Amino acid sequence: MEAMRILMDEHQSLAAIIHAMRHLIGEIGAGRLEADQGLLAAMVHYLEAYPEKRHHPKEDRYLFGPLRQRTGEGAAALERLEREHGEAEGRIQALESALACYRAGQAGGFEAFRAAFDTYATFYREHMLLEEREVLPLLHQYFTAEDWARADAGFLADDPLRGTRTGKGEEDFARIFTKLVEAAPAPIGLGAGPYREA
Ligand SMILES: [Fe+2]
Ligand SMILES: [Fe+2]
Repeated sequence: MEAMRILMDEHQSLAAIIHAMRHLIGEIGAGRLEADQGLLAAMVHYLEAYPEKRHHPKEDRYLFGPLRQRTGEGAAALERLEREHGEAEGRIQALESALACYRAGQAGGFEAFRAAFDTYATFYREHMLLEEREVLPLLHQYFTAEDWARADAGFLADDPLRGTRTGKGEEDFARIFTKLVEAAPAPIGLGAGPYREA
């Protein structure tokens, strides 16, 4: 089941970026690391462009929507997930505007950004757990071979970590992911120093 493999890969890469950000923010907060705001901004951009814009729409279209056609089970969880997918823009904007205040040197900017990040990270942990614990088992239970075939085709056609659909003007998310993690301080990454888009 390619759809499941890609979905879990995407959850893991999202969790890895959030983990790297938490570490980076913690080190900055403890005064052990000079703030690399460019790296933080690149990470926020990654979250916006990849999970928020690409991952959730695939889930809705190829998994959660079709599941509703098969069963009424899990309706409350599916409703909540779809609502949360629809709130992507506001969620990322809250993080972006907190980061902008921090980068502008506003008083208390770092603490406010850290609080906004904590809210975002907690939200994502719960969101992904709900998907993995409550909805994925229902897919295995109720999806037909045809449902899986459609889901696999949909996920394979839009698998940015594997470089599909990386046409002209499209970001190479696998490359960006590697660069972000490398730029993060040890022990998460290599601590390669100030992040520069190249
Ligand atoms: Fe989701
Ligand atoms: Fe997800």
